[in-house]
Amino acid sequence: MAQLIDGKLLSAQIRSEVKADVEKRVQLGKRAPFLTVVLIGEDPASASYVKAKAAASAEVGIGSDTLRFESSISESEVLALLARLNEDPNVDGILVQLPLPSHIDEQKVINAIAPTKDVDCFHPESVGNLVIGMDGFQPATPAGIVEMLRRSNIPTAGKHCVIIGRSNIVGKPLANLMLKKGIDSTVTVCHSRTPNLPEIARQADILVAAIGRAHFVTADMVKEGAVVIDVGINRIDDPTKERGYRLVGDVDFEAVSKKASFITPVPGGVGPMTIAVLLQNTLKASR
Ligand code: GUN
Repeated sequence: MAQLIDGKLLSAQIRSEVKADVEKRVQLGKRAPFLTVVLIGEDPASASYVKAKAAASAEVGIGSDTLRFESSISESEVLALLARLNEDPNVDGILVQLPLPSHIDEQKVINAIAPTKDVDCFHPESVGNLVIGMDGFQPATPAGIVEMLRRSNIPTAGKHCVIIGRSNIVGKPLANLMLKKGIDSTVTVCHSRTPNLPEIARQADILVAAIGRAHFVTADMVKEGAVVIDVGINRIDDPTKERGYRLVGDVDFEAVSKKASFITPVPGGVGPMTIAVLLQNTLKASR
C-alpha cells in the first residue's frame, strides 16, 4: 500500500516559512508583499482557485486584491489594465487567472505582464530563465511537485520521470525542472499523440499525471513501487454530494495506490502546494 504524500501538511510548512519571512520584512519597516489577481468571466473552477489564492495570501500576511471583470471585457482593456499594474509600485505580483474568454489572446496577455511581477512564471522571459537554469520565479505547480518530492525524501537523481501531459502550465515547465542540475532526473514527456503511452508509463520511477482526464492512469500503467503524482482536478457527477459533483484526479487512486510506493491524493495533494509556491513567488517579487 502506497504512502500518502500529504500536500496540505507540506504546504502548511511552506506557508509558515513564508509567513515568518513576511513578518521579518514588516518588522524592518518594509511594506508587506502585495499580489493583484485578475479574474475574467464566470468559470466556477477559476473562481474557486482565485478565492483560495486570496485566502492563502491573507493567512501569511501578503496583501491581495482580486479584480473581477465580465467576460465581455476587451483584450485592449486587459492590456491597458496590465500596463497600469506593471507601473504600480504597490503591486509586487500580478496573476491573470487562466483560461481567458476565447476573444482574448492568452499569450498576448501573458506577454504584457512585467517579468519582474510574473509570479505565475508564464512570461517567455521567465520560461527562458527556467529552461537555462537561471534563478527566478518558480512555475507554481511544477515547483510544488518538486517540493513534495524533496520534503518526502524521495530521490530524483538518475530516476526516470515520466510526465503525461505537455501543457505550458505543468508538463513543459516540470520537464525542465526535473532536468535541472541538482534534481537530475531523466525525463520523458508523453501526450495525447504518444502511441505506446502505457508502456512508457510503466518505465517510470516517478510518474506524473497532468492530462486533465479523470482516472486516466490505471494500475496496469504503473510499475510496482513507483512514485505517482496526480496533478488532475476533474469534476465528475456525484448525486450523493450536495453540490452534485466530486473532484477526482487523473489517476485511478484506488487501484494505483496498491502498487505505488508513494502517491498524492486529490484533493489535498498537488493543489495546495501550487498555492504555497505562488506565495513564495510573491514574497520573492517584493524583494
Ligand atoms: N489556471 C490553472 N492553473 C493556473 C495557474 O497556476 N495560474 C493561472 N494564472 N491560471 C491557472
